[in-house]
Amino acid sequence: MQTYVVTPLTARPGPALAGNVLVPGDKSIGHRALMFAALCEAPVTVTGLGQGADNGRTAKAMIQLGATIERVGEDMVVSPVGLARLTAPGTIDCGNSGTTMRLLAGLLGGLPFATTLIGDASLSNRPMARVATPVRALGGVVNGEVRNGDLFAPLVVGGPEAAPRAAQLDLTVASAQVKSAAVLAALFAEGVTTIVEHAPTRDHTERMLAAMGAPIAVRDGVITVDTRGWSRALTQARIDVPRDPSASAFFVVAALIARAADVTCADICVNPTRIGFLDAIAAMGGQVERHGLRHVSGEPVADLRVGHGESASLHGATLRGELVVRAIDEIPVLAVLAARAAGTTVIADAEELRVKESDRIATTCAMLRAFGVHVEERPDGMVITGQPDTPLRAAQIHAHGDHRIAMAAAIGALVADGPTTIDDCDNVATSFPSFVAVLRQLGAALEVRHSDAVATAPSRAQDD
Ligand code: S3P
Repeated sequence: MQTYVVTPLTARPGPALAGNVLVPGDKSIGHRALMFAALCEAPVTVTGLGQGADNGRTAKAMIQLGATIERVGEDMVVSPVGLARLTAPGTIDCGNSGTTMRLLAGLLGGLPFATTLIGDASLSNRPMARVATPVRALGGVVNGEVRNGDLFAPLVVGGPEAAPRAAQLDLTVASAQVKSAAVLAALFAEGVTTIVEHAPTRDHTERMLAAMGAPIAVRDGVITVDTRGWSRALTQARIDVPRDPSASAFFVVAALIARAADVTCADICVNPTRIGFLDAIAAMGGQVERHGLRHVSGEPVADLRVGHGESASLHGATLRGELVVRAIDEIPVLAVLAARAAGTTVIADAEELRVKESDRIATTCAMLRAFGVHVEERPDGMVITGQPDTPLRAAQIHAHGDHRIAMAAAIGALVADGPTTIDDCDNVATSFPSFVAVLRQLGAALEVRHSDAVATAPSRAQDD
């Protein structure tokens, strides 16, 4: 088991955090680039993919389904199998990756062969009825273990009884994974499928598939998939994956709470469905500059800069509704920001956090409490009392195998009153294997211990 030991910035002389960082390629776009490239008719070059284990799960799955994926220099070249020629893979191991499992349930649910989708202990405890409902409405098959009124992996998807058909769907859960599964299942149906979404979840699936020639239109929160007369041929020569806004959020918050900072995160995807965290930061009085807005493979991209540490000017805010949907993965690190902001921050309408890689309402509250912060847990969020004038208390934190809790805790630890240890950090590799290296590059001191390793003093130089 990996444990991080983080030395607070104040323990060291000199400027707190400074530098230009390159975070990995966006994880959500990476999944879709690999999966949808494999559905095309001719080879696709994918650039900028992150090295995270989750994207690796999707790559392996598509190879099992008949594609070839080769590394050529820094890029990946996907020699596709084609939407109409997917081959029976038997069992696919999705590891810790909910996006891999849920999108595959949509892609494979309507096919005439059965596939078993398995995952690790965390993924096997995440709810899958939400994805089974729309895929079944579209004539697909999704079966699994029925427990506590929900459905869990291992899932068996597709099979001879699958009979794809168009349908009108009203999604009750605000989830891009569920929406994407429905869109993928609709590609196999004949006719017009409509999918109504009540909150604006990330829209990378719609953007990328439409650019590949899929008959997808979006208007006023309604997605229409009209397959009448469609050849089912998808094409795209190249997909450039922009860098991950969710990964950048850790350094943006770190710079905001540091006493002095100048941090730039380059080439970040600033798709409006992904940057609710920037709106939340603005509502809390933080300033993040955006430079050089441009478009890359159908996604808006910009550089994000925090020019000076400024926790003194941060204040609490109420974060709720569609903003929370657009910031869902960033809530743990926004909670750390709230701990350093004057006054109270209310996070509401965030019940989806209870079914992430951990129960992120409970694990975020536990993290803040360990840091000595006053927090009230609520069913759909939390109320955090900020302490801008008092350092966080050095703590021993358990990340519960959740990559985003581990990374958020590492950021909070930078402004603690002594070294903080964070246990169970191995899963940081699912999304951001270079997290430790990037944080050190900015000037932080973080040591990685392995459970059987002999403890040594924290050092900046040591690499893991
Ligand atoms: C994702 C959607 C979100 C997000 C997850 C990635 C995606 O999950 O939390 O990290 O790539 O579609 P939900 O769809 O469950 O909200």
